[in-house]
Amino acid sequence: MILLTGAGGRTGKALLRALVAKDAQVRAFIRNPEQADGLRALGAADVAVGNMEDVDSINRAAGGTDVVIHVGPPMHPQEREITKSFVEATKNSGASRFIYYSVMYPILRDVRHHSLKLDATEMIVNSGITYSIIEPCRYMQHLDPIWPAVLETGVHSMPFNTKAQFAVVDLEDLAQATAKVATEAGHEFATYELAGPQNLSQEDMAAAISEVLGRPVRAEALPLDVMAARAIEKGASEDRVNQMRIMNTHYDHSGFRGNPNVLQWLLGRPATAYIDFVRRLAAG
Ligand SMILES: NC(=O)c1ccc[n+]([C@@H]2O[C@H](COP(=O)([O-])OP(=O)(O)OC[C@H]3O[C@@H](n4cnc5c(N)ncnc54)[C@H](OP(=O)(O)O)[C@@H]3O)[C@@H](O)[C@H]2O)c1
Repeated sequence: MILLTGAGGRTGKALLRALVAKDAQVRAFIRNPEQADGLRALGAADVAVGNMEDVDSINRAAGGTDVVIHVGPPMHPQEREITKSFVEATKNSGASRFIYYSVMYPILRDVRHHSLKLDATEMIVNSGITYSIIEPCRYMQHLDPIWPAVLETGVHSMPFNTKAQFAVVDLEDLAQATAKVATEAGHEFATYELAGPQNLSQEDMAAAISEVLGRPVRAEALPLDVMAARAIEKGASEDRVNQMRIMNTHYDHSGFRGNPNVLQWLLGRPATAYIDFVRRLAAG
């Protein structure tokens, strides 16, 4: 049995599908019981309702599991403490391995949510448990929420300059690679940096979308204040908005470039190209 945290989120659902495709038995850890039926429909064998800030519910959920995959909430200020609770629960349950879903380059100390994951990583490595660590680059799926606006306006707009480059990666590839790490032997004490196959700017992404749609799409930098106002409107906390500002300022300056070799080795095939991801999105 694999305990999967964050199971009702964007990453968690993709991971659940990929694990089920490998015939894994998955216990989905969720805080909102209304998500249970949907996750069972996706193939979850079991559901544990709890809260990542409640140690008792974590220990109950980890009981009788063989592997724990921890997918924490994005930019959570208690990342280290929450991760520690799952590490302790892994030890108490006798599970053989803890898999931490992190981010590429947790060493970026000036980007707070990276440094939070760095602190959690240090705790895991020093904890005495058997672990594997997944370090993904930025998802291609960040196009999903702006897709209707791209179709309507012909503008691809994200909160960093149009030339900064990103090794964007398909979440479906990440999910398949992580499912492999979770269900196969030989990944003990490994840390895998998983990036997409090309380093692309917003201009490159707009050109790919343009090619798929057969009409012009141009790139435009979204001002940080507009990004922040939209996030507040959607209910993001002041801390989260602040972390988003820090992240996007860093991206504006340095982008987020990476190399696909490790991902392709794990997948045993080429990683999904951005244009193929856009074709999939456009096909619905
Ligand atoms: N997006 C990227 O490009 C990217 C790249 C690399 C790494 N990552 C990492 O991937 C991870 C997951 O991101 P995501 O976009 O999939 O997040 P997401 O869609 O927001 O999912 C997070 C899940 O965590 C649950 N959750 C939040 N607080 C909880 C609590 N206290 N107790 C129990 N469950 C709780 C949420 O449940 P509710 O539905 O109840 O809110 C939600 O289902 C993050 O750690 C992020 O840093 C993301």
